Amino acid sequence: MVKAGIVGATGLVGHEMLSVLQKSTLSISELRLFATARSAGRTLNFRGLPHTVEIIQNASWEKGMIILGATSSEAALQWIPGALAAGAYVIDNSSAYRMNKDVPLVVPEVNPNAIKPRHRLFANPNCSTIQLVMALGPLRNFSPFEWVSVATYQSVSGSGRDGIDALDRQEHEKPVIGSFHRNIICEIGSPEPSGYTGEEIKLVMETPKILGMNFPVFPSCARVPVKIGHTESVTIKFTDNTAAGKIRQRLEESSGIRVSNLGCQPVEVEGTDYTVVGRIRNHPMDGSIIQFWVTADNVRKGAALNAVQIMELIAKRITGPA
Ligand SMILES: NC(=O)c1ccc[n+]([C@@H]2O[C@H](COP(=O)([O-])OP(=O)(O)OC[C@H]3O[C@@H](n4cnc5c(N)ncnc54)[C@H](OP(=O)(O)O)[C@@H]3O)[C@@H](O)[C@H]2O)c1
Repeated sequence: MVKAGIVGATGLVGHEMLSVLQKSTLSISELRLFATARSAGRTLNFRGLPHTVEIIQNASWEKGMIILGATSSEAALQWIPGALAAGAYVIDNSSAYRMNKDVPLVVPEVNPNAIKPRHRLFANPNCSTIQLVMALGPLRNFSPFEWVSVATYQSVSGSGRDGIDALDRQEHEKPVIGSFHRNIICEIGSPEPSGYTGEEIKLVMETPKILGMNFPVFPSCARVPVKIGHTESVTIKFTDNTAAGKIRQRLEESSGIRVSNLGCQPVEVEGTDYTVVGRIRNHPMDGSIIQFWVTADNVRKGAALNAVQIMELIAKRITGPA
């Protein structure tokens, strides 16, 4: 039995965590929900019982409790140190701790062994990284990657509850610069001095950390008018020639992946746990280059589901096998 908590329980990811936890086989003796004063007092149902949202500032953490974090980085930096000091385990969805050397950045199908007994803080990778490494992980033993290029088509839910509300509202408005509706925004967040945006730098930094390999990632990230589901066009340059048929077979055998014949569309994955890969092909002039598309529900596998899968690994370690 574990005691669990969700911080940011009223947001898009927090809400999905609650829904994934409902169906998880985890034995939870107590679940506590936290948000700001804006949502405190609201009740959310969990396994048939109403649970009241508490104010984060009044939180009292317990040793051994496992907390899922679904807040911004700024908020995470405020509440996580106190939770760790009290002896709790934290799985954080924000980018605050992802690149810390001693914080494992985990996708359970890809690098479960990054979790060591000394760790109590775990980072969930960014949504666009999770689905990329779900596809790259099973392929890393063919031959080393020379480089990986990825162009993302990211849904508006990647910017939270506010993103979905904005797209709904804009459906009745004339599009302007920055609109989600009838538009593509080729810049997610502000560019850094290098010209790359924070969203692109996450793919550059997080991907090699998770795979434990050193190779350059060339990212271009865009926001598209889709509610749920990020889609990515991926190109891998292997060191040796690698046949598309073998890649397809390996991905078909991999946990959490589905190979699609439908061309890889976000509507295929909305509300599902799968990362879908499609249109796997060799470059006609270079047998060491593979291209494919990959899509996943960014709120689910890209955030809530992945965090709950990490929680299950930690719970097993604390309480022993079920
Ligand atoms: N959306 C995605 O696809 C996705 C994917 C991967 C990772 N993430 C990351 O997951 C995190 C949450 O994203 P989201 O999309 O769920 O955002 P969201 O819909 O805006 O929800 C934010 C949540 O954080 C709470 N909150 C705000 N300030 C807080 C504070 N100071 N202390 C404690 N709680 C606070 C909010 O509570 P109130 O109701 O009280 O305002 C709300 O519950 C972000 O770091 C995001 O980058 C999101």
